[in-house]
Parts: sequence; structure tokens; C-alpha cells
Amino acid sequence: MKRIFLDHASTTKIDNEVLNAMLPYFSQYYGNPSSIHAFGREAQEAVDDSRSHVSSLLGCRDDEIFFTAGGTESDNLAIKGIAYLNKEKRKTKGPHIITSAIEHPGVLEVCRHLETQGFKVKYLPVDTNGIVDLDSLRVSISNNTFLVSIMFANNEIGTIQPTEEIGKIVHEHGILFHTDAVQAVTKVPIDVRKHHIDLLALSSHKIYGPKGIGALYIRNGIKVQPIFHGGGHEKGIRSSTLNVPGIVGLGKACELAKKRMTKDMIVMETLRNLLIKNILEIEESYLNGHPEKRLVNNAHIRFTGIEGESLLLSLDEKGIATSTGSACSSQKLQASHVLLAIGLDPVQAHGSIRMSLGRENTREEIMYVSKVMPQIIEKLRQMSPLWNR
Ligand SMILES: Cc1ncc(COP(=O)(O)O)c(C=O)c1O
Repeated sequence: MKRIFLDHASTTKIDNEVLNAMLPYFSQYYGNPSSIHAFGREAQEAVDDSRSHVSSLLGCRDDEIFFTAGGTESDNLAIKGIAYLNKEKRKTKGPHIITSAIEHPGVLEVCRHLETQGFKVKYLPVDTNGIVDLDSLRVSISNNTFLVSIMFANNEIGTIQPTEEIGKIVHEHGILFHTDAVQAVTKVPIDVRKHHIDLLALSSHKIYGPKGIGALYIRNGIKVQPIFHGGGHEKGIRSSTLNVPGIVGLGKACELAKKRMTKDMIVMETLRNLLIKNILEIEESYLNGHPEKRLVNNAHIRFTGIEGESLLLSLDEKGIATSTGSACSSQKLQASHVLLAIGLDPVQAHGSIRMSLGRENTREEIMYVSKVMPQIIEKLRQMSPLWNR
């Protein structure tokens, strides 16, 4: 059976060029970049090259990129790292950190943890398309707010936030702006200066790089308290011997993305639009998320009378991999906090499915999914107590 992967928001297959670039750094160039001998210097050169490729994709300087173990760690380092430097604010009133109700757990859970440490957090509402309410942002900012953390694009419904406007508002108040850009990087052109971003989290395995490596952009001059203490790697911001093969992989993934991103975006958007158009021909099916301001690879659809998990399993039987939520929460079977935040009720939320395309998907695959989906929906509806036609 042919297998079709439509779950690229959860992870991507490593690109062959990325893998080939990494391989020599496991066996041939295995030096520790902190060592000053030739083995170490070879590894350090590769790390420097990688840093340039990451910075070039974001429009920042090389010394503003810090390697981490992934998106979650970058989010933790950014938010805790700024919060710990503002500990005295815990005694003051008003929100200290402002975030949105639809963040990934990598941000939400950090904020919840900080609440237990005495910080106050405001979770901004979003509209029915998943866009953060900017008026609510403006009125929420208080004298004690030191950080705003709002994701660039949502991992479930794909909605892209008005990041530039958010950044402007935040900077007008002299506050720092962090964005979780794990889903947006390579699918939205990002320029950290233009978008007024101070801290940005990215992850390699979402962009055809290896798992277990990511980066945090920290604007020059911004102080972040480390959360790992040790040998003082990454200018003391993130101790631990550098994951050289992983870093080389991330660098290569960014280098490739920079070259091919414009074309990839057009191809994915065309196929994604075809998929949405075909699937929405099914009776009582609806698109979740913003109709235009959405990631080029995201199709998130809700079907009346359908239970998302059953749909996912039926599609899986046909070789089609999709998701009912973010990969991190898909085992919890709770209604998605993102779908509840855009105003869906729990039944509607459970009747939704995410299909996220990648650069290797083809028109034939999309047509196959478009053919199979109505048959599965009809079969499931015949058995569904939620479908009373
Ligand atoms: C928006 C977002 N932030 C953070 C993460 C976590 O990234 P990582 O898996 O590299 O820790 C993910 C992964 O699903 C994500 O989609």
C-alpha cells in the first residue's frame, strides 16, 4: 500500500542532502568544538558555518543565534531566561508576561509554571479565525509587563499572526517580544528586524533537519539567564557540548530552505488549496483557522457527525497519515485548547482533522486523499450517533 504523509506539522523526513552533510561529523570530524586542536577546530568551523546559515534565514547576525535541543528548549530558555532576570516584578501587580490562549505547550506550560513562581500571566483571546486580539494586547500591557510571547503561526490551525504589528505595539511600550516560530520558519518569510522580534524559537525537525536540535535567536544586547549551568558553551547561555552533527544538519536544512523556500511555498499552497477545495465539497465540512492568513501547508477541516480519532484511524488504514491535534497532545484525547479558543464546542473540536503538507507531496497523492475522504466520511457518518440525517 502506498503511504501518504500529511503530518508535516508534527515532523518531517530528513532531507538526503542534510543527512549527507551530517554523516562525516559522526565519524570523521568528531572533535569537540571547544577543543583548540585541529579536530576541535574542524568541528568549530562547521558550527560557525551552520550558525551563518541559520542567521541568514532569519535576517540576523551570526552571534545572535544560540543552539539548543529543539523548539521546546528554545521557548523555555527565552521565557524563563527573561523572567528570571525580572524576579523582583513578582511582587508587583498587573500582567508580567502576556501570551495567547493558543500557544503550543512549549510556551503555555512554561507560563503556567512561572505562575506557580509568582509571575502573573495574561492569556490573550483570539477571534474565530485564531488571530490574537490586538486591542486586548494594548490594554493588557502594564508597567510591570516585561515580555510578550505570541507564536508566529499556530501548529494546529495554521493561522499566521500579525507579527509585525504585534512587535511594533510591544516595542512602543519598551517590552521584549518573543515568538515561537517553530511552524512558521521556512513557510513564512521571516525577517526578525522587520518583524520587531527580540527572541525567536525554531526547531530543526520541522524543516527537514534532524530531531533534537533547534535554535534561539536573541537580539544583540538582550540578556537571558541560562537555564542550564555548566561549562559555559554558547557564550554561557546554553551549557553542554555542542551537538555538532545536529547543528550541521540544522544549518544545511536552513541553507536549502533559503534557496528553495519561495518555490516550495507556491507548490505546497497550490496543492493545499486543491485539497481544501476538494474536501470542502463534502456536505457539512468546514475549514478551521483563517481562510487566507494561514500556513501554506495547513488544511484543518471539521466534519459534522464525525469523531476525529475514528477518521484518523480510517485514513491510516488507507495509508494516509494525518493528525487530530498537535503531536504532543494527540494521545490525551482532550478537546484541543486551540479549537476551544476559536469558539468551537468540544464535539466540533473532536470532529476536526489536520492535514499538513510537505515539499514531497504530489498532486496524485492529493487526488487520492480527495477520493478516499468522502467514502470514509460517508461510512463513519452511517455509524455515527452524532449524524442524524
Ligand atoms: C509551535 C511549536 N512550538 C514548539 C514545538 C516544539 O518543538 P520541538 O519538538 O523541537 O521541541 C512544536 C512542535 O510540535 C511546535 O509546533
